[in-house]
Amino acid sequence: MRKGIFAFFLLFSVSYAGDVELLKEAKKYFRPVPDIFPSDKNKITEAKVKLGKMLFYEPRISIDGATSCAKCHPLTLYGADGLKKAQGNNGKINPRNAPTILNAAGQISQHWRGDRKDVEDQAKKALLGKGSFGAPSYKWVEEKLKKIKGYKALFKEAFPEDKYPVNVDNFARAIGAWERTLSTPSRFDKFLMGHIDALSQKEKKGLKKFIKKGCVSCHNGALLGGNMYAKFGIIEPYWKYTESKEIDRGRFDLTKKEEDKYLFKVPSLRNVEMTSPYFHDGSVSSLKKAIWIMGKIQLGIDLSKEDIEEIYAFLRSLTGKLNEDMKTVPVLPPSEN
Ligand code: HEC
Ligand code: HEC
Repeated sequence: MRKGIFAFFLLFSVSYAGDVELLKEAKKYFRPVPDIFPSDKNKITEAKVKLGKMLFYEPRISIDGATSCAKCHPLTLYGADGLKKAQGNNGKINPRNAPTILNAAGQISQHWRGDRKDVEDQAKKALLGKGSFGAPSYKWVEEKLKKIKGYKALFKEAFPEDKYPVNVDNFARAIGAWERTLSTPSRFDKFLMGHIDALSQKEKKGLKKFIKKGCVSCHNGALLGGNMYAKFGIIEPYWKYTESKEIDRGRFDLTKKEEDKYLFKVPSLRNVEMTSPYFHDGSVSSLKKAIWIMGKIQLGIDLSKEDIEEIYAFLRSLTGKLNEDMKTVPVLPPSEN
């Protein structure tokens, strides 16, 4: 009897010591996600955030009157759309998959290839994107916004210093301010803050493997990604294992530099369980398959079924809860014709 208790305590303290060690190790690579993603250039205010959320749901500024940011980034699907490639105005297919807007503001740049500086730059340019809003000009968008009279007071409140606040730069600032509040802490953050029981044994095994196998060399920081670019297909070409229909050369098409061929921004893995399909072209729908492919082509290892199961369990611990603001839709001001 005594012996049994002793053995139990011994086992317990060994595994406890292991967990403490794992926490220490994890803290070298990861940080809890911040509550907001601030910017010196765009202060987050309540009035901006309120307006920004409304504008995110506003379809009347698109060429077909039916395309809003929310069409391709619905919060019901955790800010992604579930499609391989997003569908914009008049059913136009985008060249790439729509990433989630959740936690996006915390990245070094926006879009798979990093061709948008920040969330404000992204929001403004989406208006003229042929595959998204398809607006003919910024002036056209401003006219549309001005015709919806209810916006006047809301823009004034959000940008009290501006003489003519209803303009596309303020549209982008307001949406950006709202996006900067879209942080989704999860059980993994609790773990990082010292609650070692916040993760199950299986999830901890997965975390250990995520670190040991080398995933962490690219997917690190507060977002487990979003802070560097890497070649997709280091050991073998990515299209060998994905179901990619076309070959996207990544940042090469922007810079024309040989070393940028097939370089993409390392995506954040927060909420990754919720945002299938995966990769820049949505060419893989199973998260377990995506994990296996990563091992194969980024690290040159053939992950076992057990490895994959454990890493998968760990990745699911990165799913945060949507808060009330994320789960509610705003009522927009009426059209007055
Ligand atoms: C037609 C669908 C569509 C619409 C409409 C749309 N987006 Fe996107 N969004 C996408 C696609 C596709 C990408 C990826 C583009 C790329 O990487 O080339 C993207 C990328 C993004 C990103 C970058 C995320 C990351 O991790 O890099 C943000 C942020 C974003 N969109 C926010 C918005 C906002 C705000 C609006 C409205 C102003 C908007 N989107 C409108 C489809 C859409
Ligand atoms: C050398 C850098 C690097 C390493 C190592 C790496 N990744 Fe990635 N990962 C990337 C890049 C780049 C992408 C985006 C590829 C693309 O363009 O679609 C990605 C995409 C992913 C995705 C898809 C995310 C999404 O939203 O589409 C998952 C899941 C993922 N990685 C998990 C892992 C796991 C698990 C490991 C370890 C087995 C790992 N990665 C190792 C760079 C890396």
